[in-house]
Amino acid sequence: MPSFTPNSELDLLFSADLIPTEVTSQLGSDLHMRPLAKTDLSRSHLSVLSVLTATPDVSTAQYAQAFEGMRACPNAYFTLVIVNRNTDQIVGVGCVFIEQKFIRGLGKVGHIEDIAVDKSMQGRKLGLRIINALTTISEKVGCYKTILNCSDSNIPFYQKCGFEKKENEMALYHNKTSTAPPSRVTTPRL
Ligand SMILES: CC(C)(COP(=O)(O)OP(=O)(O)OC[C@H]1O[C@@H](n2cnc3c(N)ncnc32)[C@H](O)[C@@H]1OP(=O)(O)O)[C@@H](O)C(=O)NCCC(=O)NCCS
Repeated sequence: MPSFTPNSELDLLFSADLIPTEVTSQLGSDLHMRPLAKTDLSRSHLSVLSVLTATPDVSTAQYAQAFEGMRACPNAYFTLVIVNRNTDQIVGVGCVFIEQKFIRGLGKVGHIEDIAVDKSMQGRKLGLRIINALTTISEKVGCYKTILNCSDSNIPFYQKCGFEKKENEMALYHNKTSTAPPSRVTTPRL
């Protein structure tokens, strides 16, 4: 079984200092929250996301290229993961994407995306911890609000995380073969 890899040995997407200690201190001692690492493809990142939607395989090089593309946009992508220290595998993920706007005096909005907790770990408050960490980061980097889309069945979860229902979501899928939610997944993508 792979041994736990500390932050100091990883190439991280953003500074781990942005992750609030109020949240990390509430995780069990078997768990570690950190920014996404360039090598997280090998730690089941896509497999955890598969509870959410289709996650076709990508190569290590393609994954690293996408990671570098995100890191090249400073203060835009904050993807974090929860790792099981015993297996060095990811058990939960989430992202807040920061949108720079021209309205509201050049305001910024945080968009929460792609929240997923491995089936075996659901119900242990990991989803709540991920949302708490992401909303704190969103606020710390200057967003005036944090928003997200979700299925009706997940509304109670997000309400427990402090969100309230506002307006509606509209979507137009451009390439129906690769981006529309697959029929085997009952929960629409976030
Ligand atoms: C939704 C998801 C992220 C929640 O994560 P989780 O770690 O299982 O949830 P938590 O343990 O943090 O739940 C926090 C609270 O919300 C409640 N909750 C979680 N999911 C819920 C749901 N679907 N309906 C009602 N309540 C829910 C929990 O019971 C808990 O309540 P409590 O504080 O009273 O005990 C997780 O179940 C998941 O990955 N689901 C599949 C993918 C998905 O739907 N992602 C979200 C896309 S919008």
